[in-house]
Amino acid sequence: MTKDLRANVKATSLFLSELLLYPQQIGALLPSSRHLAGVMAHWLPPDPEDYVLELGPGTGVVTQALIARGLRQDRLITIEKSTRMAQLLRERFPQACVIHGDACQLDKLFRRQLKGVDCVGAVISSLPLRMFTPAAAQALANKIRAVLRPSGRWVQYSYWLGNGRNDATGRFDLLSTRVVWRNLPPARVSIYQRKPAH
Ligand SMILES: C[S@@+](CC[C@H](N)C(=O)[O-])C[C@H]1O[C@@H](n2cnc3c(N)ncnc32)[C@H](O)[C@@H]1O
Repeated sequence: MTKDLRANVKATSLFLSELLLYPQQIGALLPSSRHLAGVMAHWLPPDPEDYVLELGPGTGVVTQALIARGLRQDRLITIEKSTRMAQLLRERFPQACVIHGDACQLDKLFRRQLKGVDCVGAVISSLPLRMFTPAAAQALANKIRAVLRPSGRWVQYSYWLGNGRNDATGRFDLLSTRVVWRNLPPARVSIYQRKPAH
């Protein structure tokens, strides 16, 4: 077995064992395909100095696509709730800031662990938002809005393929949305931008 194949098998086994233990939290049958990860990674901020916040990186499929597209590890902040996945991410991306914690607390996590970072240029989220209560999803959306610079993008995928938006995204403009069919199951990627404050 090659080194890459061994690493893939290890990551997928971890994903499946976490799925068995915490199905609601994982919210997917398999890690994202490289096609879905590539579409998510298309939305890096134009300024290479900007930080990118990845929520729910799991075993790092989207993370890897972000790095492959040119994101520097030292500009990447991830928040992952699974202890074992956070550990794997630290091994795979040693220069990134991997926070083991709940993305719903991202305001507190930022204050405690990221003293020099006021805002990020993009939020790339694989969180299973539709498993969140409407109140929790709205609170998270408000925290994302607060940390995102005005021109920044929030990239979110969902296995819900309908065109309807999650109510929590109401304070964002929908810039673009498309279905990625080459994923199991297919997923819709939506790109949001902060609505200007009145
Ligand atoms: C659908 S999986 C996606 C994993 C990976 N990004 C991918 O595309 O293969 C969702 C991930 O979000 C994490 N997650 C779920 N709720 C979370 C929360 N409140 N805070 C941080 N991570 C969370 C899960 O542990 C899991 O790793």
